[in-house]
Amino acid sequence: MKATAIAPSNIAFIKYWGKKDEKLRIPENGSISVNLSNLNTTTTVEFSSQLIHDSVTINDMMDRKQGERVITHLNRIRKLTNIKLYTRVVSKNNFPASSGLASSASSFAALTLAGSSAAGLNLSEKELSILARLGSGSACRSIPDGYVEWLDGKTSETSYALSIFPPDYWDINIIVVVVSEESKDISTTEGHALTAKNHFMPIRIAMMNEKIKQIKKFIKEKKFPQFGDLVEKEALELHAIALTSNPPIIYWQPATVSIMKLVQTLRKEGLAVYFTIDAGPNICLICEKKNVKKLTGRLKNIYGIKNTIVNYPSVGARLIKRHLF
Ligand code: PMV
Repeated sequence: MKATAIAPSNIAFIKYWGKKDEKLRIPENGSISVNLSNLNTTTTVEFSSQLIHDSVTINDMMDRKQGERVITHLNRIRKLTNIKLYTRVVSKNNFPASSGLASSASSFAALTLAGSSAAGLNLSEKELSILARLGSGSACRSIPDGYVEWLDGKTSETSYALSIFPPDYWDINIIVVVVSEESKDISTTEGHALTAKNHFMPIRIAMMNEKIKQIKKFIKEKKFPQFGDLVEKEALELHAIALTSNPPIIYWQPATVSIMKLVQTLRKEGLAVYFTIDAGPNICLICEKKNVKKLTGRLKNIYGIKNTIVNYPSVGARLIKRHLF
């Protein structure tokens, strides 16, 4: 009863920020994302009568807090079956542990697929997405392939993600620019919770359905400048909400702002590039494939960049045969 899965991380074009239901992780609004080819997690799960307790190893380390979250998720899987056995979980990211890149989407997607499969369940993509969402909201978007929509839903059964375009539908690249490797002082969980009392949230929520409709149209018609403009303004809106929360959350570092400014300059020079930023200081640059070389060249001399990772749209979570133990 052992299974291994690999799952990508994803970056949202239209973002999930705030929850209708805290415990079930039902978001305030739907969101749209793409899976990232070069940021992924591989996880092996084994249920065995030989084990006398659960054990969780992530990137060769046993972290109690992370381990507890993993075991809570395994308990959800145990609940779906009659399995009473303990488990061994080994998980590895293909990016450095302290790179400042959130790995909860890829790790909970991989854990959901490997865990449910090791438990003998044969869940549909929709069921896997719902289960992954309970572990970490954005993980539900790392289950389906390519460009993905997470339907906000009103209940747990109606809040799941599905593929809207395959990975090869459109040749865009996403360059993750790492400017800080430190963990942030205000977690994403706290950020979501603080939206509940933010006066600007009702205005944001009222516009989300229209934004989702627009972004899907721009992707469908491959209208890069309109798409990029909307993605960038959406990221700034999330940060406007964060900045006006109580206490205010400033996720950016000086290098984040330098790169935002550089993007504006590059556009004035005629290079079509746009940025998006999640709840942290690292920044993702989006361009068409033909412009990647030019863009990475321009990033070379920017002070404060620790690493850049070029991604293309990828498939979602997959079972693989090579186990980690
Ligand atoms: O899934 P969580 O709880 O880590 O929240 C993710 C929130 C953002 O990354 C900021 C936006 C998104 O839609 O991924």
